[in-house]
Amino acid sequence: MFRPSTRSDVSPFIAMDVLAEAAKLEAEGRSIIHMEVGQPSAPAPKAALQAARTALEHGRLGYTEALGIRPLRTALAQHYRRDYGVEVPEDRITVTTGSSAGFNLAFLAAFDAGDRVVLTVPGYPAYRNILKALGLVPVELAVGSETRWCLTPEHLEEAQKDGPIKGVLVASPANPTGTMMTGDALADLVRYCDAHGIWFISDEIYHGLDYAEDQKTALEISDNAIIINSFSKYYCMTGWRIGWMILPEQLVRPVERLAQNLYISAPEASQIAATAALGSVQELEAVKAGYVSNRTLLLDGLPKVGLDRLLPVDGAFYVYADISRYSSDSLDFARKLLHQTGIAATPGVDFDPLNGHAFLRFSFAGAHEHMKEALVRLSDFLD
Ligand SMILES: Cc1ncc(COP(=O)(O)O)c(C=O)c1O
Repeated sequence: MFRPSTRSDVSPFIAMDVLAEAAKLEAEGRSIIHMEVGQPSAPAPKAALQAARTALEHGRLGYTEALGIRPLRTALAQHYRRDYGVEVPEDRITVTTGSSAGFNLAFLAAFDAGDRVVLTVPGYPAYRNILKALGLVPVELAVGSETRWCLTPEHLEEAQKDGPIKGVLVASPANPTGTMMTGDALADLVRYCDAHGIWFISDEIYHGLDYAEDQKTALEISDNAIIINSFSKYYCMTGWRIGWMILPEQLVRPVERLAQNLYISAPEASQIAATAALGSVQELEAVKAGYVSNRTLLLDGLPKVGLDRLLPVDGAFYVYADISRYSSDSLDFARKLLHQTGIAATPGVDFDPLNGHAFLRFSFAGAHEHMKEALVRLSDFLD
């Protein structure tokens, strides 16, 4: 009689299941190298920690405006001016509890139940699961090496034949592939969406972590684009659950009303800390330099141990490796890798129900010494 709803029947996030299994082995005394979750090992910037401490000691932490505290919204507007040369009115900036809340707010504000929304495969699994839970229809389009793992207007043209598309969600740099769209490819896609009345949602959570391409925000191309971003990755603040959105004018009030009702406001302490984090560029660039050397190490070392089919790692902190030479079951391969070597990595099936069985994602957000050790263990395992 008392059953869970059908809408709650979404897939688990396998990366988190791998993390749980790795934690169990660690508790038994095994040495584990965590390359499964996309989480910086560095703490939040010092200024952010200090601002939070001061707020805790002197402040009464309370609810804030649903759209976020004014100093943070002002600092975010400055960030767009300084880093992208784009003027954004503060009133179009809203603070969220991580980008995860941003997706919920964007989907609810822009779409009605039953609307079709395009995603790339491979892609971040929560997009599809949130859409499903909200009664929306994910239209998953496979991307591959022929378009450098990016979505193009031609993909959308094809998908429109099966019914109207109401939205497109793209991440650049992407998870799990780490690939980035060129400025021209992004502009083509955004302009296509604008011309066809399709909401373009740009997940820019990995901005700041670019190694090959110059990053561009979709905001530079269209004021209709919905920008979602977060303090979790570049700013090393996953646990603070804080992010932001830049909204088209007509979505500001709907998102404000939804946020007021769904969670009232983002935690005030996190908002205060995030404001300080935006000024900590020097410290964060030092963390990024660590990713750069991990990336170089793996791009050089993985082919030598037998993993030579890697996607272009333009940004983020992931290597998406083709393991088909060794296995056609990435879940089983990841399990064996974990149990035999202590390396925790995420099976591709998390990101790609079609071809993910042939891929494994390695996160290189961890310590350099751990990456070196991982190469040694992988070499023995794949031998
Ligand atoms: C592409 C992408 N978007 C969004 C998120 C969610 O991040 P958060 O809610 O911490 O901002 C992640 C987390 O790994 C991600 O990889």
